[in-house]
Amino acid sequence: MKEVNIALLGFGTVGTGVYELLIKNSDLIKEKIGIKPIIKKILVKDLKKKREIEVDKNLLTTNVEEILKDPEISIVCELMGGIEPAKEYVLKALKEGKEVVTANKAILAQHGDEIWEEARKRKRFLGFEASVGGGIPIIKTLKEALIGNNIKSIIGIINGTTNYILTKMLENNLSFKDALKAAQAKGYAEADPTLDIKGIDSAHKISILASLAFGFYIPVSKVYIEGIDQIDLMDLKFAKDFGYVVKLLAFALKRKGKIEVRVHPTLIPENHVLTSVRLNYNALYITGDFVGDILLYGLGAGKEPTASAVVSDIIDAIEYSYFGKKPFIKYPLTKNNNFFNIRP
Ligand code: NDP
Ligand code: HSE
Repeated sequence: MKEVNIALLGFGTVGTGVYELLIKNSDLIKEKIGIKPIIKKILVKDLKKKREIEVDKNLLTTNVEEILKDPEISIVCELMGGIEPAKEYVLKALKEGKEVVTANKAILAQHGDEIWEEARKRKRFLGFEASVGGGIPIIKTLKEALIGNNIKSIIGIINGTTNYILTKMLENNLSFKDALKAAQAKGYAEADPTLDIKGIDSAHKISILASLAFGFYIPVSKVYIEGIDQIDLMDLKFAKDFGYVVKLLAFALKRKGKIEVRVHPTLIPENHVLTSVRLNYNALYITGDFVGDILLYGLGAGKEPTASAVVSDIIDAIEYSYFGKKPFIKYPLTKNNNFFNIRP
């Protein structure tokens, strides 16, 4: 029975989750696909850092070349976050002939054209299921299940941290600051949490979804963005008195041949299904011309659900390199200025 060596770049919330999932389920995965994924190396920044879990010290390295130049490692999972050096490592891994999996929405929303182009040029697999919606299979849904549809709209709650903050403020009377601290402690927030609270993380994600749904690259610079950093408990209570709940929503809409992509806090009537999306859950409404309306719901941030998405990409990468399964869709490559942004 074959084994495949993979490397993790990053061993924080998500990297630890992927490690734990593979320790627990790699035999099960081997039964399903005939190949066992083995973690051969893990890149970290600080070798002396106290880790949440004990691992063989020989697994850890601070030298990325040990991974990129190792011919026995065929899949590299970038789980570091940030733009540099994550982008550089992803591009180098593709150039070295590795299949790449990333959870990093920021590099795709800012440099997706370059990264997708490199993967296409090198004929390498580039998986990014974990970049949007945590454990919700939204990327595969758009790339595969809904591929025949003309997608009309995607509307969603796609940031777990802000949804957790808004829930905790209202339900537990927490201040914004304390609710954010709690979300950080649970591992939901970005290393720089202003990305979450200012709506930028949601904008990164809707940029990726809009690019997949509409077929051309829509970078985050084209997204209108407003976060929840100006909202306090009083606002939430007033909204409630009037029968509304405040949620940070992301929109990607096609209207009269134009594309509109935006993120902002939105008042939702109390009886609407999205108001029941609490804590670190995410939900996405997608409307396609043939499928009609569908709703995807699940845990949108955190170690376990995100690991589930990363591992689904690892399996796809194995299928791609070992069984010759080709990715379904051309990556969104074409520059196209036929879109606009509007203030809500
Ligand atoms: P963490 O901050 O918890 O972990 C980051 C890891 O990367 C750490 O192990 C750190 O090393 C390592 N790292 C950072 N910079 C470097 C560097 N320059 N060289 C080597 N190693 C480095 O992040 P998360 O696990 O939360 O997030 C990782 C990625 O996954 C991000 O792109 C994030 O947006 C995305 N994501 C996160 C989700 C979540 O719920 N947390 C959900 C979905 C996606 P060290 O441990 O030594 O400091
Ligand atoms: N910071 C992100 C969130 C992690 O809270 O949704 C998941 O992408």
